Amino acid sequence: MKRILLPLLAALAILPSCGKKPLLLTENNIPKIVAALTDEEKCHLLVGANHQNPDDSTAMLDIAAYKDMIPGCAGFTFPISRLGIPSVVFADGPAGPRIASHRDGEEKTYYCTAFPIGSLLSSTWDPALVEEICAAIGNEVLEYGVDVLLGPGVNLHRNPLCGRNFEYYSEDPLLSGKIAAAYVRGVQSQGVGTSVKHFAANNQEINRLSNDARVSVTALRELYLKNFETVFRESEPWTVMTSYNYLNGTYTAEHKELLRDVLLEEWGYKGLVITDWGDSCDPVAMIEAGNPYLAPGTQAQYDTVLTALRSGRLSRKAVDEGVAKVLGLVVKSPRFKGYVPSNDPDLAAHAQIAREAATQGMVLLENRNAALPLKKGATLALFGSNTWKLEAGGTGAGDVNTSGTVNLYDGLQEAGFAFEPVAEKAYSAFVETEKARTAPINEWLGWWFGRVSYEELPTKTLEAILPASAKGADAAVITLLRQAGEGKDRLAEPGDFELTEAERQLLEKVCTAFHAAGKQVVVVLNTGGVMETASWKDLPDAILLAWQPGQLAGHAIADVLDGTVNPSGHLPMSWPVRYADVPSQNFPQVHVPQRKNASWWHHKKGQRFYEQENIDWTDYLEDRYVGYRYYTSFDCPVSYPFGFGKSYTTFAWSDLKVTPAKDGWTVDVTVTNTGDVPGRDVVQLYSKPCETEQNVPVCELRAFAKTGLLESGASETVSLCLTPADLAHFCEACSAWITPAGTYGLVVARDADSPELEASVEVRKEQVRKVSDVLHPSQPEGRPLYLGGGNAITR
Ligand code: BGC
Repeated sequence: MKRILLPLLAALAILPSCGKKPLLLTENNIPKIVAALTDEEKCHLLVGANHQNPDDSTAMLDIAAYKDMIPGCAGFTFPISRLGIPSVVFADGPAGPRIASHRDGEEKTYYCTAFPIGSLLSSTWDPALVEEICAAIGNEVLEYGVDVLLGPGVNLHRNPLCGRNFEYYSEDPLLSGKIAAAYVRGVQSQGVGTSVKHFAANNQEINRLSNDARVSVTALRELYLKNFETVFRESEPWTVMTSYNYLNGTYTAEHKELLRDVLLEEWGYKGLVITDWGDSCDPVAMIEAGNPYLAPGTQAQYDTVLTALRSGRLSRKAVDEGVAKVLGLVVKSPRFKGYVPSNDPDLAAHAQIAREAATQGMVLLENRNAALPLKKGATLALFGSNTWKLEAGGTGAGDVNTSGTVNLYDGLQEAGFAFEPVAEKAYSAFVETEKARTAPINEWLGWWFGRVSYEELPTKTLEAILPASAKGADAAVITLLRQAGEGKDRLAEPGDFELTEAERQLLEKVCTAFHAAGKQVVVVLNTGGVMETASWKDLPDAILLAWQPGQLAGHAIADVLDGTVNPSGHLPMSWPVRYADVPSQNFPQVHVPQRKNASWWHHKKGQRFYEQENIDWTDYLEDRYVGYRYYTSFDCPVSYPFGFGKSYTTFAWSDLKVTPAKDGWTVDVTVTNTGDVPGRDVVQLYSKPCETEQNVPVCELRAFAKTGLLESGASETVSLCLTPADLAHFCEACSAWITPAGTYGLVVARDADSPELEASVEVRKEQVRKVSDVLHPSQPEGRPLYLGGGNAITR
């Protein structure tokens, strides 16, 4: 009886009283709606709808109508129908929306397109292209009825082994920020929102829920916040997601200085700050700190917020301000605007966009004796079992439920290549057994725990097939694969950063046999992150870094291998010679027991553990010397420098011109295609410090541009803008960005190690931009001494 009565009464309660127009949310009446909401309703709006209040039947009624509306979505805001407030639906990204591909009782499928990973997008060095690609992502979000996509992931690649680097963009804040801003503009051009994540300093997965990232204000300002700042300057993301970790002693979601002082005040952010999923910080502290939306929401959070509001422990001001921001998000959403999703995005068209995008971000690392492009129609011997099982992307929240990934065998076959039969036969039998072995394991591991890949062919079998295949094929293609994802970091070990013995044997034996027969060998790297290459890169003739290129992986790789597309990707991070050269040496390497190599280790929110260095806390000892900032400043050789990438053609640069402009300078460079095939080039502008600057990196990226497709012999003049503010370094003692008066070297370079043209600019008068004096590492009692602060590495 109660079950029928309650909803009935609730339904009556929301009917407008006779003659009076009901108050309903519009874009212009948010303050009125805030005033009309009950305390319970306000708390419902601040806590994601993953909760139900048994005492509040109206809420239950609303929630019942929305439950399971988009299976597999990450969560949604609480609907309040009496005031015309619908839910806003969040789904994961960033490589495409993540929703369930199947729904109970339906034949229809809801597959999404797996677009290339973040590190491939940044390898394009082409924000305009990224914006275009992301418009297709946004369209899929819209057509599947999602309002906000949980991406882009903007965290810096502090260390090559972070498990989520594949989702992120770069070790450089400018490149990372510009690509992320393009992502936001592209997705949001479709009328749906984004969530820039994870704010901030979430640079390791191990114990990410409780790790305290202890970072100097300098490194924060110049690196770990700079990328986010660039996103907010160049786009208007609807939401920002705080990270799980502590930053300098305070959880980011509770960090007033980070959120109120920097994000809201200094950067003027107007959108909604949301927590990462299931972040169990103190709800009151979060709302007060400027993180008013708690996702996906729990009953306990709702109860705490309501009790605190009633008792006065939580200020009404913070609640009302937070509610207004949630409503601000609601009124922008397609659902509020009454958009009826088709549930039928043009997946075929999007797959083609993903394929084209993938080809633009692949990086040609080696190409001796013009091994690539392969001759169309050639007979290839394919090696490496994962040729038959490519990875479209990484695992975890960034794993898209796609209809399938095209492997390289199929991709090359469709491109018209023939296959040498002896190798093909050996592999097809072996791959079938590997498929049968790994399928149940991967089913069990699901989307979260990573995926196992195929083992390599036993050495004996390999040795047996090599003579015939080297004789019968025109060239060999070897695929090497790495997989990583959320919740776990990578290891500097064989099978991850290093090659396994089996992979090394494969490379050596194939190269020896094929070179002896006068044939070339091409290696394809299907990976989401950096690998050791220095010890083996001279063995094959060509190496194509294909990244994890999305669902048409095999086709996209074939497009580059056969020269349909001339590769123009450049590395967004350095590839060190040895892991031991990486400046962030205190990145955790936890092997045994394995469970410690996980995000949830020590997951006891509220309890501060300060037991194990680099797990409970991590001091960012390398300070501002992350990636190439370190390698170039300390003359440490790398295997491939930041910004590196080859092409099937050659380019000449000329006519460097630096001219004064309104706010600084314009730097013009003419790029000419001096080779035989059309291609695109990337121009990178680095600055050197002025005479008076001490202990700052010797070179830093300040601007970049990518040319259009230049026909053989064609030229394009690219124009880069530079201002004195771009040259500034952060002065901790004065809480200010300072550009000292002096002469600054400008280096127009092909990568961080390859200067091409040089000039200089003069700053006549020191420029100072004061900011709030916040975010210092704290040193509460009982904690180990903070060792950072820029003193750990000096020149
Ligand atoms: C991840 C976020 C993701 C969220 C929702 C969290 O575990 O850190 O990136 O958006 O889950 O799935």
